[in-house]
Amino acid sequence: MLDLRELPLPLVGAPMAGGPSTPALAAAVAEAGGLGFLAAGYRTPEQVAEQIEQTRALTARPFGVNLFVPRPSVARADELARYREALTDEAARYDTAPGTPFPDDDHWQAKLELVEAVRPAAVSFTFGCPGREWLSAFARAGVLTLVTVTTAAEAATAVAEGAGALVVQGPAAGGHRGVFDPAAEPGSVSLVELLREIRAGAPAEVPVVAAGGLDTAEAVARVRALGAVAAQIGTALLLAEQAGTNAVHRAALRSPEFTETAVTRAFSGRYARGLVNDFMRRHDRHAPAGYPEVNQLTSPLRAAAVRAGDPHGTSLWAGTGFRSARPGTAAAILAELTP
Ligand SMILES: Cc1cc2nc3c(=O)[nH]c(=O)nc-3n(C[C@H](O)[C@H](O)[C@H](O)COP(=O)(O)O)c2cc1C
Repeated sequence: MLDLRELPLPLVGAPMAGGPSTPALAAAVAEAGGLGFLAAGYRTPEQVAEQIEQTRALTARPFGVNLFVPRPSVARADELARYREALTDEAARYDTAPGTPFPDDDHWQAKLELVEAVRPAAVSFTFGCPGREWLSAFARAGVLTLVTVTTAAEAATAVAEGAGALVVQGPAAGGHRGVFDPAAEPGSVSLVELLREIRAGAPAEVPVVAAGGLDTAEAVARVRALGAVAAQIGTALLLAEQAGTNAVHRAALRSPEFTETAVTRAFSGRYARGLVNDFMRRHDRHAPAGYPEVNQLTSPLRAAAVRAGDPHGTSLWAGTGFRSARPGTAAAILAELTP
């Protein structure tokens, strides 16, 4: 079983669904001595299986696969209808229409079975904690399990269910907050405070990985001093040569036009941090909760905005440290972040 303490670099390449995570990026992070990750979210099990094969062809070093844990939807039909209406004009500008919501658990069962069968070194979860049956099945298969947590209470649940390790995600993190309760507002307790609280409560044999806003070697050293075995790096890898980040997202991260990030549910119905753009400014206040329905409503608009090269109509996920992101190879970016 993978031991995170034995990684040559105390760095995990964050899984980043929606394009940025690629086999090339996961393999480059692994080859550099960190733990690379594939992001299975939004993909079919067949696509995930293919990506695992491609990554294995590029590296013999350990890497992980990240899964979205499905949660009961909190969407309300009337709110979704109102939001659809609010998005219609915006969609028309891109010659498209809001999408139609449909039930989707992101192929949860099939992906669990795939990971159990192909046994990557690690599997991580976000948006919830799988039951103890699956966590122990992976442990038996020699796959290290990591559960993303955003509060001490979520950490206690994950430990009680048998998580092999925790990814403690603080409020500065780019992309979706991994909050278990889809209706809850994400907390604002700092990563440092969360780490202190969770490290004190979790058994010493459960390693903790810290995530969120870690954009310098000093920041990585700080979380290590608080007991984290590694830092999970997302935003800093978005401009990596091997990342699949689209051109609109890449340009926005480097543009002086974008000066701040905020947490919004306007794009997906779940809270996530990204660069503040016009879509966020227009829709943040009236966007309802409800993943995956809201994500499905906005999907055609986001895709059309990217095709049109418009950074104001799509999600531009980024953590608070986005200004430190630099283009380069994944190995060079990780070297900069190594304490
Ligand atoms: C573009 C993007 C996509 C993300 N997608 C996922 C994902 O699919 N699964 C996941 O567990 N976390 C995802 N995250 C969150 C990261 O795992 C991590 O918590 C975060 O990037 C750490 O903060 P940082 O971006 O400030 O480094 C994503 C983050 C970004 C920026």
